Amino acid sequence: MSRFNSLDRREFLTGSAALATAASLPLSTLAQETMLAREIPGTGETLPVIGLGAPEIFIDMPPEGKELPMSVLQAMVDQGGRLFDSPSFFRPDPPIIGPIVQEMGLRDELFMTGKITVNDKDAGVEHLERLVSNLGAGTPERPMDLLLIHNMRNVPEHWETLRAWKDAGRTRYIGVSLTRNADYVDFERFMRSERPDFIMTGYSIHHPLAEETCLPLAADLGIGVLIVEAFKATDDGGIFSVVSGKELPEWAPDYDIESWAQFSLKFILSNPAVNGIVTETRQVRHVIDNMRAGYGRIPDQAGREKMREYLLTI
Ligand SMILES: NC(=O)c1ccc[n+]([C@@H]2O[C@H](COP(=O)([O-])OP(=O)(O)OC[C@H]3O[C@@H](n4cnc5c(N)ncnc54)[C@H](OP(=O)(O)O)[C@@H]3O)[C@@H](O)[C@H]2O)c1
Repeated sequence: MSRFNSLDRREFLTGSAALATAASLPLSTLAQETMLAREIPGTGETLPVIGLGAPEIFIDMPPEGKELPMSVLQAMVDQGGRLFDSPSFFRPDPPIIGPIVQEMGLRDELFMTGKITVNDKDAGVEHLERLVSNLGAGTPERPMDLLLIHNMRNVPEHWETLRAWKDAGRTRYIGVSLTRNADYVDFERFMRSERPDFIMTGYSIHHPLAEETCLPLAADLGIGVLIVEAFKATDDGGIFSVVSGKELPEWAPDYDIESWAQFSLKFILSNPAVNGIVTETRQVRHVIDNMRAGYGRIPDQAGREKMREYLLTI
């Protein structure tokens, strides 16, 4: 049990947004079993399907103080999540999340991912060292769980670095991410030739390209898949503005869907190639909403098509 968990959690949450939100939830929401977890291909290790990315409040101290990022992170853990995509950028100071994770004693409970977000090889190594130093990880005793090359930058040199880090036991898994993509040609070529442990890419009902390209390939090759941009709809906005004022379909309860966020997330989870989804929010109630998508019934192929048709025609 982590040091943070051994504290009186109620005491910590008193006055926090987490407690206010939890108190307003129906009992059924709190009386949960465990979140759906999927196996990382070829390993036997399972990962709860909904995780958390890195909003601004994990990078710079918010005006509300560190209780807000702590509450957001704790809400994910309390709801059964473990996947945490750490902030990619230093500007110029290290993100505040590293000390917070360590203070909360959550390092060993989280499945932590990080990325190289610079181009030059040496700068990439320096970036990784700063990242793992911030998070208190990256040693054989306490390795990172997953390190990625952000958006396929300088793949030839950075892949060499990541392979060396994996060989040295500094990270358990390595891979690449790609989101601002016109196509997946280079990405798929890389997947075939290098067989990364994981890919991370964008996928949503409005942006389905991945499901026709890299997702089936990942399933064929036994590569883990993490999804971001789950709520992306138009080029400059998310699903929430598209569905504003619109009702969920009457059949939403058939899949235990209680919100448009869960509609989006369960659509993605209905694709069996997907291991996990990273969502970003600075609101505890949204963390809880998103985590709930990892519980209850998941649509099958027919359900997925019904969801797509409904959302694209309302
Ligand atoms: N190339 C890459 O490697 C790459 C690219 C993009 C993202 N990422 C990773 O993915 C993470 C997620 O980023 P994203 O771009 O995919 O964002 P996202 O999770 O698709 O969307 C975030 C937005 O949705 C809102 N939101 C979240 N949950 C909600 C809910 N339940 N109800 C209503 N609104 C909700 C948030 O607002 P509130 O704060 O108000 O909730 C925020 O404005 C990032 O933090 C990063 O870790 C990686």
